[in-house]
Amino acid sequence: MLGEGKLKQLHQLIESYSHEELVWINGYLSGIVANRGTNGNAVTANGHDAKPVSNKKISLVFGTETGNSKRLATHLATVAKKKGVNAKLSDLSQYRLTDLTKEEYFFVVISTQGEGEPPIPSKKFYDHIQTNDLSLPNLKYSVLALGDTSYPMFCKTGEDVDARFEKFGAKRVVPLQKCDIDYEDDAEAWFEKVLAVVEDQTTAAPIHPVVTAAPVTKKAGGKKYYNGTILTNINLNDRGSNKQTYHIEIGTDEVIEYEPGDTIGIVPANRQDVVNRIISLTGIDPLLSLQTSKVTAPVNELLTQHVNICYLLSSTIKKYAAITKQDIPDTRMDLVDLLRIYPVQNTEQFIEFVKVLMPIAPRLYSVSSSPAAHGENEVHITVAKNQFLAEDEQRFGLCSEFLGDQPVNSKITFYVHKDKHFKLPATDKDVIMIGPGTGVAPFRSFIAHRDATGAAGKNWFFFGEQYFATDFLYQTEMQNYAETGVLTHIDLAFSRDQPQKIYVQDRMKEKGAVLFEWINNGAYIFISGTKDPMSKDVERTLLQIIEQEGKKTEEEAKQYLAQLEKDGRYEKDVY
Ligand SMILES: Cc1cc2nc3c(=O)[nH]c(=O)nc-3n(C[C@H](O)[C@H](O)[C@H](O)COP(=O)(O)OP(=O)(O)OC[C@H]3O[C@@H](n4cnc5c(N)ncnc54)[C@H](O)[C@@H]3O)c2cc1C
Ligand SMILES: Cc1cc2nc3c(=O)[nH]c(=O)nc-3n(C[C@H](O)[C@H](O)[C@H](O)COP(=O)(O)O)c2cc1C
Repeated sequence: MLGEGKLKQLHQLIESYSHEELVWINGYLSGIVANRGTNGNAVTANGHDAKPVSNKKISLVFGTETGNSKRLATHLATVAKKKGVNAKLSDLSQYRLTDLTKEEYFFVVISTQGEGEPPIPSKKFYDHIQTNDLSLPNLKYSVLALGDTSYPMFCKTGEDVDARFEKFGAKRVVPLQKCDIDYEDDAEAWFEKVLAVVEDQTTAAPIHPVVTAAPVTKKAGGKKYYNGTILTNINLNDRGSNKQTYHIEIGTDEVIEYEPGDTIGIVPANRQDVVNRIISLTGIDPLLSLQTSKVTAPVNELLTQHVNICYLLSSTIKKYAAITKQDIPDTRMDLVDLLRIYPVQNTEQFIEFVKVLMPIAPRLYSVSSSPAAHGENEVHITVAKNQFLAEDEQRFGLCSEFLGDQPVNSKITFYVHKDKHFKLPATDKDVIMIGPGTGVAPFRSFIAHRDATGAAGKNWFFFGEQYFATDFLYQTEMQNYAETGVLTHIDLAFSRDQPQKIYVQDRMKEKGAVLFEWINNGAYIFISGTKDPMSKDVERTLLQIIEQEGKKTEEEAKQYLAQLEKDGRYEKDVY
């Protein structure tokens, strides 16, 4: 039916699309066919005449901590532009709060962090809308909430923002869309609805039926959980170190779908001795079956496997105060301390309280293995035992202690959290990896992968810790990589081996000229490890090097780094 030329064009087009795009186009074309009247006028996906859409303006704002919302909103702004809609993109951290009343269309992409909290940079905006009663009757809005269904407070920030705008009298033009870690398809579908609304309100054309695109493709049963067995668990720090960092290898019977740069999510169990103490403090029968909003199980199992008993949120402690009718100051603490300091009067009070406890949240760990180097049925992680002081005693983080205590052959469940951006570039590109402490994890994976696949690009690794003798994580492997040339350079900073502290950023400064040469020649820069202060100090140093070696002003250096980030050549995996 099509002429040869048109058929060839069609084939060329088809080849350039992904499977998901083809599925969408399939639905789109069926809609056009279904809606094409006898006059043959075509309609768009939104049911309008296929003429360029208005030059309507919308505000698209994002609130992000690890960059997903920013990348997504940036992509959506481009999609809008292609459809003739001018999307003004803003980071909520920079957003002028007084502009809210001037907005007409306001679309928010925002993630949830911590324990149901807003991303740190968006906190000012979040607090502003939480604490002020605004009147926004002319505002049309919708919220896209990024989150992770494994967390107890799934998409809480998005929900809060959505609810506040409703309270301000704004008109929700598209329902709140909550997304799990595989957010792309849901986000695109949400934005199509957004654009449809914007177009509907701007073109004079009558409203045509909306073409139904193919349903969003979802993995059956949501996130995939793997059942693993601990194959190896060793402390990488030598005797005398201030730290304990575990190298943990987890094996599975099935292929684990992951790549270097991904993280895995693990939900830890609570310590049995702590649970026993809670049982004895409350006098509850450990075998009594209780029902929470998520699960029904005997008290002992509920307290070890399901509910969070560590560092309770102050909102949870308020509920305890109400149930036990006690005056408790605004604070956070472990359940065992709460029961010790403010005891329950009877087991009924405790039963009531257990029902409001939240599920245990997962913790993420960067993979330190590569399927190409270590096999597809294994994943490795590098876990620092988290230490802190509470109630005047040395305590340890729940998950890192749980993982460190896991003996070989014990069972563990995990899921893979894909990171599409913290990824090795093409094999011929050079990479600069800055990863002190557990920041080494993704780079052990990167370097092993580059070695196993014979990648031609050069590799430069900056590592730092306290002492060379006790804390050089993966020392033998890294030295081998340096000897065999897989690592073109390795620079080490052991902060406490000399009177003055030396950190990775000091080593970077020493090598500033060569480092800039690498960057200017196209190298990709990766930072991994603690966000504060490490990643911020490293970024400051990078800017200084770009300014100094690149003969740029401070502003030009910032622009240069921003461009690297935009090009995907500057990526962070920090926490
Ligand atoms: C993308 C990403 C990648 C990561 N990769 C790695 C990695 O490769 N390796 C790694 O080791 N970690 C990594 N992490 C960090 C990891 O996810 C955990 O945050 C870390 O292991 C601490 O978890 P925890 O359960 O041991 O500590 P938690 O129990 O969650 O405690 C954390 C902190 O809460 C406070 N706290 C807890 N209880 C109390 C209390 N009773 N009183 C007062 N304060 C308290 C303390 O400050 C404590 O340090 C990564 C995080 C992210 C987001
Ligand atoms: C430490 C941490 C805590 C998180 N807490 C929550 C949470 O409470 N609720 C939720 O739905 N998602 C939670 N998430 C998942 C993030 O919202 C999700 O990864 C999102 O894609 C991040 O988007 P951003 O990069 O724009 O910040 C958490 C992620 C991390 C790393």
